[in-house]
Amino acid sequence: MIPTPLPAVLSLLLVSFFSSGSAARSILKSPPDDPRFLLSTGRSGWSDDQYCDSWRLSAETNNAGKWSTIPEICVSFVANYIQEGKYRSDSDMVAQDSLTFAKNVTLAGDGKDIWVFDIDETLLSNVPYYKANGWGSKKFNETAWDEWVFQAKATALPASIKLYYELLKLGFHAVILTGRDESQRSITEKNLLYAGYHHYAKFWLL
Ligand SMILES: *[C@@H]1O[C@H](CO)[C@@H](O)[C@H](O)[C@H]1NC(C)=O
Ligand SMILES: *[C@@H]1O[C@H](CO)[C@@H](O)[C@H](O)[C@H]1NC(C)=O
Repeated sequence: MIPTPLPAVLSLLLVSFFSSGSAARSILKSPPDDPRFLLSTGRSGWSDDQYCDSWRLSAETNNAGKWSTIPEICVSFVANYIQEGKYRSDSDMVAQDSLTFAKNVTLAGDGKDIWVFDIDETLLSNVPYYKANGWGSKKFNETAWDEWVFQAKATALPASIKLYYELLKLGFHAVILTGRDESQRSITEKNLLYAGYHHYAKFWLL
């Protein structure tokens, strides 16, 4: 997800609770690391579900500031969100809106009509990793994350792969930009193929 001045360069932002990969290593800090971001820990008498849903909104809109683990009381909320359909439904909604937007773009056809995709929790879903690691309630563990990455068995987020191929049909070129590092290039390409992503124009690691 990078902002860019080119009008036909678009990107897809999908909901994600997860602070994964190297982005988490380099950018995100846990709330205790930064006392400015303890604002939303007061519960004011709401039920766990209400509190967690509000926390989700705050995190997704980036108002919650830096965070690296989900609130302890929200583990089952997140597990339910991911597994019981809401994650799929939210992803479908965002992908649909993106496609509506894309269909209304007049392409130049000069090879510069590109759509930028992130990988983790956008093209690929790392849900099995997060399920095995407390749904984001544990501090990011680089070793465990790398082990998961090197298995190369992350599957496509269904809404994303559908959008990906719709966009290619419209004439966009897919550019993939990820916070994963150079040592994970070939395994990541292998995983993208395994998940069904072909024909991308460029693949960049940060
Ligand atoms: C489609 O594009 C036109 C011209 O840029 C714009 O006025 C209109 O609001 C767009 N419609 C949608 C649904 O994005
Ligand atoms: C991180 O993951 C590795 C590999 O799964 C594990 O051996 C290690 O104990 C974990 N570290 C922490 C602090 O949980």
